[in-house]
Amino acid sequence: MSPRTVLTFCAFFVSVLGARYDPTWDSIDSRPLPAWYDEAKLGIFIHWGVFSVPSINSEWFWERWLGSRTPEVVNFMKNNYRPDFTYADFAPQFTAEFFDANQWADMFSASGAEYVVFVSKHHEGYTNWPSNHSFNWNSMAVGPKRDIVGELAAAIKTNTSIHFGLYHSLFEWFHPLYLQDKENNFSTQNFVIDKTMPELYELVNTYKPDVIWSDGDWEASSDYWQSKQFLSWLYTDSPVKDTVVTNDRWGSDSTCHHGGFFTCQDRYQPGKLQPRKWENAMTIDKRSWGYRRNAPLSDYLSTQELLATFIETVSFGGNMLMNVGPTKEGTIHPIFEERLRDVGAWLNVNGEAIRSSRPWTSQNDTITPHVWYTMKNSDVYAILLDWPTGSTLSLGAPMTQTGTTVQLLGYSGNFMWKARSGRGIDITIPPISANKIPCKWAWTFKLSGLATMY
Ligand SMILES: *[C@@H]1O[C@H](CO)[C@@H](O)[C@H](O)[C@H]1NC(C)=O
Ligand SMILES: *[C@@H]1O[C@H](CO)[C@@H](O)[C@H](O)[C@H]1NC(C)=O
Ligand SMILES: *[C@@H]1O[C@H](CO)[C@@H](O)[C@H](O)[C@H]1NC(C)=O
Ligand SMILES: *[C@@H]1O[C@H](CO)[C@@H](O)[C@H](O)[C@H]1NC(C)=O
Repeated sequence: MSPRTVLTFCAFFVSVLGARYDPTWDSIDSRPLPAWYDEAKLGIFIHWGVFSVPSINSEWFWERWLGSRTPEVVNFMKNNYRPDFTYADFAPQFTAEFFDANQWADMFSASGAEYVVFVSKHHEGYTNWPSNHSFNWNSMAVGPKRDIVGELAAAIKTNTSIHFGLYHSLFEWFHPLYLQDKENNFSTQNFVIDKTMPELYELVNTYKPDVIWSDGDWEASSDYWQSKQFLSWLYTDSPVKDTVVTNDRWGSDSTCHHGGFFTCQDRYQPGKLQPRKWENAMTIDKRSWGYRRNAPLSDYLSTQELLATFIETVSFGGNMLMNVGPTKEGTIHPIFEERLRDVGAWLNVNGEAIRSSRPWTSQNDTITPHVWYTMKNSDVYAILLDWPTGSTLSLGAPMTQTGTTVQLLGYSGNFMWKARSGRGIDITIPPISANKIPCKWAWTFKLSGLATMY
């Protein structure tokens, strides 16, 4: 066979049999990210667990109480609970009586998000599904007495077009097997073999998630966690091998270096274009991922702030994963709900500039602050966080030519413009009455037929 024929045969077998990925970072990192993820731009993160019962401080409540002993948490327990109360005693109060997976699914759809990442198990070790590897510390045995992951997966998959994803913590603060492995300087792997890996395989085989968002990796290497073996199976042989995406938190050597998309640190905002797809995982409550009963309004990011972060993230090629923390009863607080619906209302008008967009040559404008760029096909979108104060909007980055047109998304008609000397455009903003403004918070000018810049 000629080399060309051999290549054709190889391509044929790869497409028929699927690609194989070895348990090495080189092989795992070579897998192309399934396209849906980059196109989606917005996901909703949901932190729910036994920590939602005390619902003060954060989802780190147990560790702050008995590990690092944060005064707020230590005093809260001393003042409000009998001395022999244990963290496990909170679990029966994780009642979830108002949890309606379809209501959540509707709300997430209304936000315009295209994927969700639900906490299947946080560092406390409690599983939100009836795991065969967590006999009495799971949502069927104690608390809701329901398969929370299963109900949400079914509602999202059946009744929405949203991709269903799962967060999973590799480590558990107080698991005896984990503590023993740690004591052994991670030269033993009993916790990984008996708990972490069986759980991950069970989650993938049972719920077929399109995202595995790993966390809790940082105390040990990816060799200890057996992450590369798991990812090799996930990408090669699992039931979601063609659609699943993962993040980078697979070991202390992996975060920001290996895996799928990069999350690096929480609220990641690199501020420049990245060679690899990245995600800004952030939360509407500035101080916590889990629900806090005592959060004042000022602790919640405003819709303006959320959209500013989102638009900046997208202009640099990132996705934003925006977190809400439900209550122990299973409701999502109306403040969170309003933020989700606001973002969705904005996307209804401006989604064209966001979904499936790519970064443009400039990320922000060169003369007017708070203007962020995206592009799709040959159109460039200038997204303004401030409505122009005068009758002219001056942009320094675009290069016009005869036939360039300017439109405001959600508003009909073309805007008048003049080329600036050298480069740039002055757009004439006509008087628009308040009830004709297409949206609040941020506005998108679509620039079509610009001159190619190089
Ligand atoms: C747990 O094991 C039982 C019996 O083998 C099986 O029917 C069930 O599907 C398993 N549950 C999960 C979540 O994998
Ligand atoms: C999908 O929505 C319908 C109508 O609201 C509801 O009856 C059904 O139970 C939902 N399906 C799932 C799997 O949640
Ligand atoms: C773990 O490492 C520490 C520090 O290097 C050492 O003192 C200790 O003996 C080691 N423990 C085991 C079980 O190897
Ligand atoms: C655009 O962003 C760069 C880098 O953050 C910044 O230095 C510059 O001032 C911004 N441009 C405007 C007009 O705000």
